[in-house]
Amino acid sequence: MKILITGGAGFIGSTLVKYIINKTNNEVINLDKLTYAGNLKSLETISENKRYSFEKVDIKDLDELSEVFNKYKPDSVMHLAAESHVDRSIAGPEGFVQTNIVGTYVLLEVVRKYFYALNKTKKSHFKFHHISTDEVYGDIGFSGNPSKENDTYKPSSPYSATKASSDHLVRSWARTYKLPFIITNSSNNYGPYHFPEKLIPLTIKNALEGKDIPIYGKGDQIRDWLYVEDHAKALYQVLKEGTLGETYNIGGNSEKRNIDVVIQICELLDEMDPASRKQGIKSYKDLITYTEDRPGHDLRYALDTSKIQEELGWQPSETFKSGIMKTIEWNLLNRKWSEDVLTAEDLQQESKNKLENL
Ligand SMILES: NC(=O)c1ccc[n+]([C@@H]2O[C@H](COP(=O)([O-])OP(=O)(O)OC[C@H]3O[C@@H](n4cnc5c(N)ncnc54)[C@H](O)[C@@H]3O)[C@@H](O)[C@H]2O)c1
Repeated sequence: MKILITGGAGFIGSTLVKYIINKTNNEVINLDKLTYAGNLKSLETISENKRYSFEKVDIKDLDELSEVFNKYKPDSVMHLAAESHVDRSIAGPEGFVQTNIVGTYVLLEVVRKYFYALNKTKKSHFKFHHISTDEVYGDIGFSGNPSKENDTYKPSSPYSATKASSDHLVRSWARTYKLPFIITNSSNNYGPYHFPEKLIPLTIKNALEGKDIPIYGKGDQIRDWLYVEDHAKALYQVLKEGTLGETYNIGGNSEKRNIDVVIQICELLDEMDPASRKQGIKSYKDLITYTEDRPGHDLRYALDTSKIQEELGWQPSETFKSGIMKTIEWNLLNRKWSEDVLTAEDLQQESKNKLENL
């Protein structure tokens, strides 16, 4: 199988690309624009593999996208490319509307034309797998039931609203144009190669650098945490065995308050790397600082994952404890990766500012 993966240089995408190259015989075409969040350094271990190709393309570019489809003739598409950081979506929603909504629309149009031109056999195997988030279901409050696949969409942030829109586009293209699709909605991922702007990698990085560890509000928001390699395995299994036209929730069965996540990381770091603690600090926990809450901050997301468990027999293999230990170990051994991706972002931002000032 030739699988075209969009956003394959991002956090989840790069884990998925490496999983497919290392664990299967399939070919992967990684199509990515390489925004600040996309890093080919995350793919160095497989970049020379003959079954791997990379194309630097923006999903909004219809002509370049069409060329890639004509060149590789993929058997399936896994669509992960997106702007993914909620805080950035609040600071500047435009890029989220462009990539997550317009980009998905352009991709669907290219896929539609490509799909119609396939021969009967290729057509019968083709799948468009759209990767989405639990945030589309909105805030379920502290006492609400975990979201099920057919629950109403109630997105709260520009990020989740644009992801919800892209889910709707996929379903409507499927119904109207008979495009064979599967959607997965997953909870918060964590693990190696996570860009250090999100809660877990930022906490680890700031702790090791002796900087404040910021927590929104009281930190009592609850998220479900899924180890990224468990997610990659689930995505591939859904692509292979999932029923066309269906949606599957993928979760880690690990609901935790943000403050408890941060405290657990600090306590593990106290054991695993006491030497990096700044002088005068007894525990990394001393660095925790409470900041003004994010506007519209949802209290809780959680997923009912019984469908994927019952239909496909999938369940996460990592507990939060085992996954977070692996994540911290990886971060301790790969501090250079974080420095490199942040420097690359600074450079991008610098040249963007220069252009804007011209
Ligand atoms: N990270 C999570 O916890 C999480 C949870 C649920 C769902 N998701 C979804 O999974 C997908 C991947 O998430 P992630 O955390 O790996 O994101 P990420 O931000 O780490 O990576 C996104 C990737 O998409 C690429 N990209 C962005 N705009 C593009 C464009 N216009 N054209 C081509 N490529 C573009 C970036 O360069 C980057 O490599 C997203 O669709 C996200 O909504 C993420």
